[in-house]
Amino acid sequence: MNKRFYITTPIYYVNDIPHIGHAYTTILADVLSRYQQQLGNNTFFLTGLDEHGQKVQDAASKRGIEPKDHCDEMSKRFTDLWERLHISNNDFIRTTEKRHKRVVKKILKVVYEAGDIYEDEYEGLYSISEERFITDKEADTGQFRDIKKLKEKNYFFRMSKYQNALIEHINSNPSFIQPVHRKNEILGFLRQPLNDLCISRPKSRLNWGIEIPFDSGYVTYVWFDALINYITASGYLDDKNLFDNYWPANMHLIGKDILTTHAVYWPTMLMSAGIELPRSIFAHGWWLMGDAKMSKSSGNVVNPMDLIDDYGVDPVRYYLMREMVLGQDANFTLKSFINRYNSDLANDFGNLLSRISTLIKKNFDGYIPEVSSLGHKEKKIILQSQELIKNFDDNMSNMSINNAIEETLQFVRNINRYFEHMAPWKLVKEDLKSAGIVLYTGAEALRICAVLLSPVMPQRIKTLLSVLNTDSVDRNWGGLKSGTKLGEHKPLFPRINSDIS
Ligand code: MSP
Repeated sequence: MNKRFYITTPIYYVNDIPHIGHAYTTILADVLSRYQQQLGNNTFFLTGLDEHGQKVQDAASKRGIEPKDHCDEMSKRFTDLWERLHISNNDFIRTTEKRHKRVVKKILKVVYEAGDIYEDEYEGLYSISEERFITDKEADTGQFRDIKKLKEKNYFFRMSKYQNALIEHINSNPSFIQPVHRKNEILGFLRQPLNDLCISRPKSRLNWGIEIPFDSGYVTYVWFDALINYITASGYLDDKNLFDNYWPANMHLIGKDILTTHAVYWPTMLMSAGIELPRSIFAHGWWLMGDAKMSKSSGNVVNPMDLIDDYGVDPVRYYLMREMVLGQDANFTLKSFINRYNSDLANDFGNLLSRISTLIKKNFDGYIPEVSSLGHKEKKIILQSQELIKNFDDNMSNMSINNAIEETLQFVRNINRYFEHMAPWKLVKEDLKSAGIVLYTGAEALRICAVLLSPVMPQRIKTLLSVLNTDSVDRNWGGLKSGTKLGEHKPLFPRINSDIS
């Protein structure tokens, strides 16, 4: 029976210009979702925008416009980018939508009625940039800007009440927080007593938020609002069938900087509301420029649009997926992008297609040759392709996407070596039938690699399959039909000639 697979990205702050960090998480979710779909699973892929909070209110007021108008304008930048990056999300949620506000209010009410929200006067240090109270120790780290002392009445969520239950859940569900070093980080954090969470902001200070249902003088804290998007979009209040089918989410994909909110705040909120916890939270590392995190404030943002304009969408997707070891940080440089593109895509992958199609056109009138019998070498290649598929699936289920891709490329390199050994360009003159077998074997091996890589490079692989005149996305040997005519094509990955290499 088909399984279902619900995957989410963080919802992005509308205030930042979308950069490679946002693009990365969304492409990664897209690749995982397309892969699950290819396996025949029923996928639901959600992304969206986090539109409330102080920063949005301030940015809008600086421009002299309403926050909602500001958000509408900003959201277009994200949706345009997702379209260009061929992101296949099933839903796009904005926290200012009615459907979401209803759910946030409902959860606040349920948690309040469970006795898990209380009122208290609080005096402490407040970081405006982080939009939360911080501890003295945090203030001492010097990592927080715009700190001021605040004293005000607020509402608090009894997060501490769920500390033990959370520890228990993490320990009995080893894949709940991934990778394992992030799980250990959270377990370490939970060794200290957990504080309750301030979940309100007085409207006198901030009114761009969702009003608290039991006190009209307050809006809810932006994170309490934002996390709930994951159940809003899967139909928590609107569509019971959808919710029963997709919740709990299989995976919340996040960056390592937002681990605590996802692995501590969110599960305790769900426990209080009596809702099942997501199956897993996976935190990836950062893309660094040199050694610094890419961010607007440090001015080292790589705009994905520029890269796409210069080199195409799929090569950028390929580079991002191949280069980052999930869970660790990765370094983004134009030089490594060009090297990776030229060696894997132009030399190995694209070149194999060119070799095959040139020889088939020249010697078989463009028709995929017949295969009457297979030799020892060809049988070995079929076995290797089966092994590759198995390893590919193992790597994907371990979130080792870079290895899944690398092993596919190794197989492509093997086929190129097989060609060099068999030299079909010479063989055609001596034994056309045998040359045909070599070419069929190469083309079918290439088709299988293409099918495996199609979640990463959906557009270019579609072109490749149309050149091979097949729509078979079957991963097993034999999808290519002898006697069908190859299509015309330009080089799939033309070499980048550049001084940077
Ligand atoms: N709005 C919150 C998330 C709420 S989810 C309920 C938020 N938004 S964000 O726009 O600041 O960042 C979203 C994601 O982008 C984070 O997962 C973050 O790790 C990721 N990235 C931002 N810069 C990044 C890099 N330089 N590299 C990789 N990802 C990084 O946080």
